Amino acid sequence: MLVYLNGDVLPLAQARISPEDRAFLFADGVYEAVVARRGRLLFWDEHERRLRAGLGALRIDLHEPAALRGVAEDLLRRNQLLGGDALVYLQVSRGAAPRLHAFPNPPVPPTVYMTARAWAGHPPVLVAGGASTLTVADNRWARCDVKSTSLLANVLAQQQAKEVGAHEAIFVRDGIALEGSHSNLFAVRGGEVWTYPACNYILDGITRVVVLELAAAMGIPVRLAAVPLADLYAADEVFLTGTTTEVLPVVAVDGRRIGDGLPGPVTTKLREAYLLQVEERACA
Ligand code: PDD
Repeated sequence: MLVYLNGDVLPLAQARISPEDRAFLFADGVYEAVVARRGRLLFWDEHERRLRAGLGALRIDLHEPAALRGVAEDLLRRNQLLGGDALVYLQVSRGAAPRLHAFPNPPVPPTVYMTARAWAGHPPVLVAGGASTLTVADNRWARCDVKSTSLLANVLAQQQAKEVGAHEAIFVRDGIALEGSHSNLFAVRGGEVWTYPACNYILDGITRVVVLELAAAMGIPVRLAAVPLADLYAADEVFLTGTTTEVLPVVAVDGRRIGDGLPGPVTTKLREAYLLQVEERACA
């Protein structure tokens, strides 16, 4: 497997970063996960826009974020990933410098790392049967809109879910169900699709935006509003979205059955529309 690190493409085993890298010491960096189908990067412009916003929020000065697209395409080619689906992971840290909290002065070059791996998506049985979820207290920082590599709360939440046999953890803050540990959250009530408005308490997922646009185009009413936990339990349908999650039906929250315990019709329609959109992008 070949990876990209600071201008070089080399075998993973030969890739070396400094132990003083600020992503290692402080999780001082941002990342993106992008799916590629047959070598076509899906929603690249949206991912690049969010990466730029994250770099701006962290005040990391990366000279040419636009060049990363070519790097990703090259990595897909060199890893022989042009035949199917692949997942590109890219991370930019503030670079390596002696450990002081404040930014290195003078600045050091950011560390840019990228991998591309074959990606199979969810097992069909999970999609057909729907996922179970576990709610956890949201103890993340208040800049969840930044796709930062500081994912400790997300890691602990996901592990907690996994240990009870749940597929995803759902963060709850002040009684409001916000999003998953690595996905956005939607509820369907009375034919309306509800999700939390984009703000500092959630990541404005690219899949989330695509699904909201598809819902609008399909005439499904959308409400950007808080979903209290009690309403989530009582929803007709619940689903998750994300680059690696796609549109995934949720059939249980905290062991309580959602709706009739099967993937619902609105979720299924939106999932099909999303998959079609992905295929259209890959063919465009
Ligand atoms: N996670 N919310 C959180 C906290 C996420 O980490 C993610 C994505 C999303 C969905 O965003 P998008 O639709 O842009 O993928 C929402 C990625 C896939 C990850 O951490 O691997």
